[in-house]
Amino acid sequence: MKIAYSKKSVASEKLDCLIVPLAEDALNPPASLSDSLSKTVRNITALKEFSGKAGESLLVVTGAASLPRVLLVGMGKKKEITGEGLRRIAGQAAQHAGKLNVGRVGFLLPKETGSIPTAEAAKPLAEGAMLGAYRFETYKSMQDDKKNSRASLKQWVLLDPEGISAPKAMQEGVVRAEATILSRDLGNLPANDMTPDAMAKRARALAKRHGLKVKVLERAEMERLGMGMFMGVAKGSRQPPKMIILEYRAKKASQTLAFVGKGITFDSGGISLKPGAAMDEMKFDMCGAAAVLGAMEGVGRAKPAVNVIGVIPACENLPDGEAVKPGDILRSYTGKTVEVLNTDAEGRLILGDALAYTIKQYKPEAVVDLATLTGACVIALGHYATGAVGNHDGLMERLVSAGQSSGDIVWPLPNFPEYGKGLEGKYGDLQNIAGRDAGAITGGLFLKHFVGETPWVHLDIAGTAWGVKNIGHIPHEGATGVGARLLLDLAQAWKPLAKSRKQS
Ligand code: BES
Ligand code: MN
Ligand code: ZN
Repeated sequence: MKIAYSKKSVASEKLDCLIVPLAEDALNPPASLSDSLSKTVRNITALKEFSGKAGESLLVVTGAASLPRVLLVGMGKKKEITGEGLRRIAGQAAQHAGKLNVGRVGFLLPKETGSIPTAEAAKPLAEGAMLGAYRFETYKSMQDDKKNSRASLKQWVLLDPEGISAPKAMQEGVVRAEATILSRDLGNLPANDMTPDAMAKRARALAKRHGLKVKVLERAEMERLGMGMFMGVAKGSRQPPKMIILEYRAKKASQTLAFVGKGITFDSGGISLKPGAAMDEMKFDMCGAAAVLGAMEGVGRAKPAVNVIGVIPACENLPDGEAVKPGDILRSYTGKTVEVLNTDAEGRLILGDALAYTIKQYKPEAVVDLATLTGACVIALGHYATGAVGNHDGLMERLVSAGQSSGDIVWPLPNFPEYGKGLEGKYGDLQNIAGRDAGAITGGLFLKHFVGETPWVHLDIAGTAWGVKNIGHIPHEGATGVGARLLLDLAQAWKPLAKSRKQS
């Protein structure tokens, strides 16, 4: 779906459907509606068929050829409107419009937008519309719309007849939506097509689009470098592992951020094989990598004033005669040895080496890793918030606030050293699991052994990367693209961390 901006009058736009957002406490029809339409809206609200509550919508068939459909959408109370609220309103409207027989839709910009200045409202509204209209149809030989000879939603016009906002705000939203959509597309691809090599090719194309530097480390080099944990996981698969590194250099910047994403393109569990039910979902085990690539797409376009390095260790986790076995001891890039007690706790192994390598090679001021790391995080937080474990309060605060602005909510988990006790190794320095208790925290604390003193936050997106329900701008099925906008917001708002906020 394409999005456009128009300052023309509503009447002069040729629309299959006009979407009119109305607040619960401001139900009067906007001045830009025709007299007859205004009358219809007044009748509807007088009959109490529409009350403007957030999430409410009503489709009106007008009988007028020039504007056959109007969709009223509720915005809730004026004062309570937020950026995420606008994203959801637009997203839900786009999901609704996607089910109608319409091609070109107009969305009337609301005059009152609560905590968001009206001039900036086009940003979340564009984001929400594009994300709500998203469908993953790469493998559908014929679209449902075509099969049923119905129109498919092609054009979304933000209508601003009163000149209250600007196309620039919309464009910012488009960049963020497209970054998220790239993450969704990558996440949704099945593992037979989204191999580590395919991911590296996508990264190369991305780098070319935006003039970023790209480097892909191959198996032989990584073996030579001593990435024993990553290579241990990778050796059960015929697909060669890749370490994908993208570099964005800001024009004027002294600081560097690093984003590291788990890129397990399929997680069978390895020799500690997972049960069969829902194993297909483990094609999503590269959603951390997808978030990093989406963020780099956004960074390449938005050009923040900080350097950004994106790093992705990518491989499959499969059982094989060559695969790593429970009890095997691997030597990590840092030299620490790790006893693998469960080959299904593979994400922390590949990330431990990727984090240590990134920090040694690029000396970033801060590192954020994203991973579908533990089922335990889904049990702890469900599908709404991403769990976070870190070693620096100041960086954690930045992520929480980027979570609020982006809508990718981040929730800090405690990191008391007592939780890490179970990771001490019996035969090696460490072991890769610490029992069932507090699994999302112990997973994070395993990674802490590989980041040293560098400010770092680990984000467990196991719950938020797919399977999210009932949020207007998120599809009911498949990858959400979580993390792309979060990292983009973090980079765009970046300023040096206060040293005093470091925590032990
Ligand atoms: N990729 C999984 C985590 C996962 C499971 C994410 C289900 C989303 C839904 C990860 O590699 C894994 O298998 N983790 C194990 C860790 C355990 C063996 C300590 C888990 O969560 O069961
Ligand atoms: Mn696993
Ligand atoms: Zn995994």
